[in-house]
Amino acid sequence: MGEGRKRDLVSIDDLSTEEIMELFRHADGFRADLRAWTHLCQGTIMATLFFEASTRTRLSFESAMLRLGGGKVTAAEASSTSQSKGESLADTVRVVGGGYADILVVRHPRDGAARVAAKFASVPVINGGDGAHEHPTQTLCDLYTLWREKGKLEGLDVVLCGDLRYSRTIHSFAYALARFKANIVTLPYPGFEMPDAVTDRLARDFGLKVDKARVTDLPGIAGGDNSAAYLTASKPHQLALFTQLTPHQVGHIDAIYMTRAQRERHAGESTEGYPRISREFLRSDIMKDARVMHPLPRTDEIDYEVDSDPRSVYFQQAELGVPMRMALMAFLLGKIELSSKPPESFATDPGLLGDVAALNCQNERCITRTEQVSYLAPEFRLLRETPPALSCAYCSVTTEAAFVGSRGSLRYHRYNAAEARRIKPANRAYFATEEQAQAAGYSALGRAGRESS
Ligand code: NCD
Repeated sequence: MGEGRKRDLVSIDDLSTEEIMELFRHADGFRADLRAWTHLCQGTIMATLFFEASTRTRLSFESAMLRLGGGKVTAAEASSTSQSKGESLADTVRVVGGGYADILVVRHPRDGAARVAAKFASVPVINGGDGAHEHPTQTLCDLYTLWREKGKLEGLDVVLCGDLRYSRTIHSFAYALARFKANIVTLPYPGFEMPDAVTDRLARDFGLKVDKARVTDLPGIAGGDNSAAYLTASKPHQLALFTQLTPHQVGHIDAIYMTRAQRERHAGESTEGYPRISREFLRSDIMKDARVMHPLPRTDEIDYEVDSDPRSVYFQQAELGVPMRMALMAFLLGKIELSSKPPESFATDPGLLGDVAALNCQNERCITRTEQVSYLAPEFRLLRETPPALSCAYCSVTTEAAFVGSRGSLRYHRYNAAEARRIKPANRAYFATEEQAQAAGYSALGRAGRESS
């Protein structure tokens, strides 16, 4: 563990691949006898702050801490906390992490909320699901299950199915699968495709290439005329799914990961014709070795008669949540040591742009769009200078800036103007619109009122 600096798990990227594999081995140890570890975290208290519904995540965290010998305090609804009186998330986690508890698990309906909690709490924060953003501990359970089933994680062929837009479990799982050089087929319910922010990041950080496909390539899945996309590893050392196959024909599947429609995040859209896994689908040849996965809760996207099929592993994913979360918490609390290094991003400066003038995250669901901006200034990472693209440090959604200003002269220009290019990087302020630039005190004429060139 990095000397003097707490570790949080907000994104699956907060753990290195080697650390993940080490945690699996610890989880195996815990699982061998779940009742033998009550000495490990004696005297430790975990707080579960769940501002959104949960069964598995909260209860498995609480069970995990009790099995480690620690205790728990819990707030299971926003209405039962001072959030309902208008308290900010920052103040809540400062208080709970300031002596009430040694580790916090936070679930929240807003994208990016877990990063806010991690920033303001003095103790480790675990993201138990923040809006449609990420759910990294579900991914640890998913990977752990798949690793135990397949004996490896490298180069698997995985289909992600259902509401890919709002399923945070899908987003974290896709980032992790990409690290293991998986070939991913996305099979969304139409209109609920993988968000651009996720596919862009998969392409940028892992070299995955998006390729359109047809759902008829996966015969037998109910739900009709869905459109599919392949995210195919494009780096030469990565495995490609279709090298030996007719283009756009899935020949083999290691796992199909189904998700429910995240209705609580929809604007009342119908989900008629939502894909569904049936016993008939599992008879297809390509499904021979496939594991059927689901983070649960299931609504009706997997037929109940599929439960008894040995390839169905969704209840196992839930069961493995306890030893997996025991390993994670024991690690974050410094009760077990890992020999692996943390991810590079933990050690290096993440290159945040805190003062980006009036640029707002374009994601309406982002926590920075609701919490009082007076304490939560938007923060971004610059992804690309031309045209400027900035990724929100909280919810990871990309916002494009059409205008660039100079903090020195307080003049702004269209990003591709020669004047904009002359502004030193450290001096740049970004704006999506001219109105934003003007509201921040910038003008096209500049301070001296000279004619803008
Ligand atoms: C998931 C969640 O909350 O994102 N549930 C879970 O934690 N296992 C999936 C879901 O609600 O659909």
